[in-house]
Amino acid sequence: MKLSLRARLVSLYLGLLFLSILVLSGYSYLDVRRLLIYNTAIRLRAQAKPVIEQWLFPGKSGASHTRAAAHVPRRIPKLASIARPLACDLTSRDTAALILDRNGKKLANGKRLPEEPSPPLPDPAYYRKALAGKNEVDYIMKENEKLLLVLLIPLRAGAGKKEIMGVAQISTSLVPVHRIMVRHGIVLVLIAVITLLAGGITAFLLISTALNGLRQMAHTCRMISEGDLSQRVNLPHHRDEIGSLADAFDHTVERIEATFESQRRFVANAAHELRTPLTALRGSMEVLLRGAQDDPAAVTRLTQGMYREVLRLSRLCEQLLDLTRLDVSSNINKQEVNLDEFFEGFLQQATILGRDHRVTLEKGPFVLVSADRDMLEQVMFNLLHNAVRHSRSGETITLGWRLVPNHVKIWVEDHGEGIPPRDLPHIFEPFYRGVSRVYGNERGTGLGLTLAKAVVEAHGGRITVESRPGKGTIVAFLLPLN
Ligand SMILES: Nc1ncnc2c1ncn2[C@@H]1O[C@H](COP(=O)(O)OP(=O)(O)O)[C@@H](O)[C@H]1O
Ligand SMILES: [Mg+2]
Repeated sequence: MKLSLRARLVSLYLGLLFLSILVLSGYSYLDVRRLLIYNTAIRLRAQAKPVIEQWLFPGKSGASHTRAAAHVPRRIPKLASIARPLACDLTSRDTAALILDRNGKKLANGKRLPEEPSPPLPDPAYYRKALAGKNEVDYIMKENEKLLLVLLIPLRAGAGKKEIMGVAQISTSLVPVHRIMVRHGIVLVLIAVITLLAGGITAFLLISTALNGLRQMAHTCRMISEGDLSQRVNLPHHRDEIGSLADAFDHTVERIEATFESQRRFVANAAHELRTPLTALRGSMEVLLRGAQDDPAAVTRLTQGMYREVLRLSRLCEQLLDLTRLDVSSNINKQEVNLDEFFEGFLQQATILGRDHRVTLEKGPFVLVSADRDMLEQVMFNLLHNAVRHSRSGETITLGWRLVPNHVKIWVEDHGEGIPPRDLPHIFEPFYRGVSRVYGNERGTGLGLTLAKAVVEAHGGRITVESRPGKGTIVAFLLPLN
């Protein structure tokens, strides 16, 4: 079975924790053991040194109150003669001493009482080292299942002399050290168990909280994929990477929901816009079918009305198609457009469209912009159309362009009724028509500015409106210069 991410993370964490505890405690255990044994060796050596000196070099010590000084003359004594008392002096309740000659023959054993430990024989390899003059020879050996620390001390023929007469062996049991080490080991194991438990619980809790966020996200994703776009992960208390992932996710879903909603509204509005002319057409046709053919005047009126509605329908379809075409940027056919030339051509159409108005052009400097000429014309036509429809006949409408940093600004200004402030935020929405009165009898589709905005943005520019009710409107757009 595949482990969950949480189980994998927790076990990885525990594994690493266990490994580091093992290394640290192992190192600490061995170090403490080494230190204790080393200390024992130093202590034994320190105790043995004056005793050996006293027996080997009695003159040097000069202490007349010691046993040695009382019986031994002031010359280097024969090892065999002092071996027994020396061994006895080196022996105590926890140390056993043995004096050996150069051949490794046992000269004396310090054991006097039965409770004193009996010494083992030296290890030949170490013994040779001691005979070779090495002062600090100590090693650990096992006897009767007990560990012993053995020290070998070379016995010299005189103070500072090289000649070695024999070796004193002092051994002590390591049971006390072993006892301390057992206690130390138990403490280490206890600490390790507590650390592992605490670490495991903390890791489990931390990882669970972190993963809960992910689980919540997965759950939300499932709900969303089942069609409920209103679902959000919403993790305000997660101020970490998972929290920001959840934030980004919620933000994305919000955008998608808004897009879906606007598409739904767009389709509903489009259907509604199509229904109005279709209803009018159906009405007129029903009247015709019921026998209006006999009244030629009525037929003319009805067919003219029907023709107007058909025109409206085809304009609407045209604009809808234009909008969808703009979604694919490859449909933009950019070319160098000389604005002087462009406006000269456009002004001819403009004077036809605004024949009841005074259309003037405010020329700017010579400039070439990279744009789709037909689309640019479409935008200008839409803006001019609005200006014409929302201002009285005889009023001035100004078109123009000028340079601004990195852009060229093109505008259409009228002195008509203006746009009420509550309409302003919506006029670029598809099918939105303001409450303004319209001069002339034609009803707009509400797609003119939507299309203009889409075209301008597809060119990398932006469009703005300034309007003062009763004074007029300026719709301007910026196109980037390259
Ligand atoms: N120059 C203008 N003066 C006053 N109102 C305007 C002007 N241009 C646009 N508007 C308002 O913005 C709305 C949306 O414009 P538009 O998208 O061109 O749609 P339509 O012209 O088909 O109504 C218009 O219904 C109108 O209320
Ligand atoms: Mg319009």
